[in-house]
Amino acid sequence: MNILILGSGGREHSLAWAVLQNPKCDRLVVAPGNAGIALIAECAALDILDAGAVVEFVDAEAIDFVIVGPEAPLAAGVADRLRDAGVLVFGPSAAAAQLEASKAFTKSICDAAQAPTAAYGHFTDAAAAKAYVAAQGAPIVVKADGLAAGKGVIIAGTVAEADAAIDDMFGGAFGGAGAEVVIEEFMTGEEASFFVLCDGTDVLPIGTAQDHKRVGAGDTGPNTGGMGAYSPAPVLTDAIAERALDDIIRPTMQEMARRGTPYQGVLYAGLMIENGAPRLVEYNVRFGDPECQVLMMRLGAQALDLMQAAAEGELTRARVNWADDHAMTVVLAANGYPGAYDKGAVIGGLDDLPASSTQMVFHAGTTARDGRITATGGRVLNVTARGASLAEAAGRAYDMVDAIDFPGGFCRRDIGWRALKD
Ligand code: AMP
Ligand code: GLY
Repeated sequence: MNILILGSGGREHSLAWAVLQNPKCDRLVVAPGNAGIALIAECAALDILDAGAVVEFVDAEAIDFVIVGPEAPLAAGVADRLRDAGVLVFGPSAAAAQLEASKAFTKSICDAAQAPTAAYGHFTDAAAAKAYVAAQGAPIVVKADGLAAGKGVIIAGTVAEADAAIDDMFGGAFGGAGAEVVIEEFMTGEEASFFVLCDGTDVLPIGTAQDHKRVGAGDTGPNTGGMGAYSPAPVLTDAIAERALDDIIRPTMQEMARRGTPYQGVLYAGLMIENGAPRLVEYNVRFGDPECQVLMMRLGAQALDLMQAAAEGELTRARVNWADDHAMTVVLAANGYPGAYDKGAVIGGLDDLPASSTQMVFHAGTTARDGRITATGGRVLNVTARGASLAEAAGRAYDMVDAIDFPGGFCRRDIGWRALKD
């Protein structure tokens, strides 16, 4: 099977790493890829938002299966165009990708599916939004409706903060994404991520994870794309996962199918868990980054079979071969991230690190220059390990971190603290 993965981050590096372990994979191309991916697979310069160009490439290179990593090509309809051209593709249609691309859309689906989530209002003008905030009080959550690169959510501690966020959003601070605003009840509890594959009808859980969104120790400081993650998430017990499937995920899938827009791909449900009950925070229509890295570490080669089964509508027959293991990934980021960050630092020590089924350094934002790996992104490396316990996985991951020479970078030293203290 000739396989094309679209994307260029640590998520796609880990997908490529898992897919390559499966003997079904004859040839793997990643577009556009990155310096780490180039060490294990072919990379192709391709504008992955240009559906026509992707279809042309797939034809020319006789690609059998396309796996879409990030949300932007999905929202832009790249999966639709590939399916129209008769290509097997893992990833939802643009219509189904609205589950991530529009918060108001997801809220309306939750209403129809009676899925537990935060109470909310949906607004197209500032005055009505502020009147709602005045009536509800603070803390309250103000969200730009559309894709805002993870920055469109403001947790407002006071009514004045909420009003300022509303003015910013309607004032164009988030471009088109802020033309509509959703205002939500502030939910308390512990967050965890639940990953399921969907084939339009059936649903197959493939793992749980928790990530650390804040830049600083103890989950403090500004939000980032994620500074580390681990799997499984102890807070998401089997009983709570069952409840999330029954009350939230399956009803969502049924509602999507009822509307004529069945969902196929991975669904990433961000859940808030309190008193044993899960509520939906948000859906994403892709693997989390860096959550994907820990899921791939645990699933290995079978990830390809599972994604193929989802794309072919054959999930009822698919089974996950679970190992009783744990994985952790630690993000090495460039100094300054998530603000303006340094670029171009040379990273040393990578060649001496053994890559195996229990440890791997996935590249997120790197470039190869004159045979040396340099940091070019905010999140640069995802140092990932597996173990019989989370503590063992953490020990392995931080041993690798300590062997990497990245003077222009930093990481959090407390990834997994919640799970490790129990
Ligand atoms: P989102 O972009 O929707 O994932 O939001 C980013 C983060 O904001 C989430 O991971 C939560 O930590 C937090 N968040 C979003 N909505 C709520 C809510 N209604 N109550 C509490 N926290 C929230
Ligand atoms: N790590 C959070 C995300 O991928 O959205």
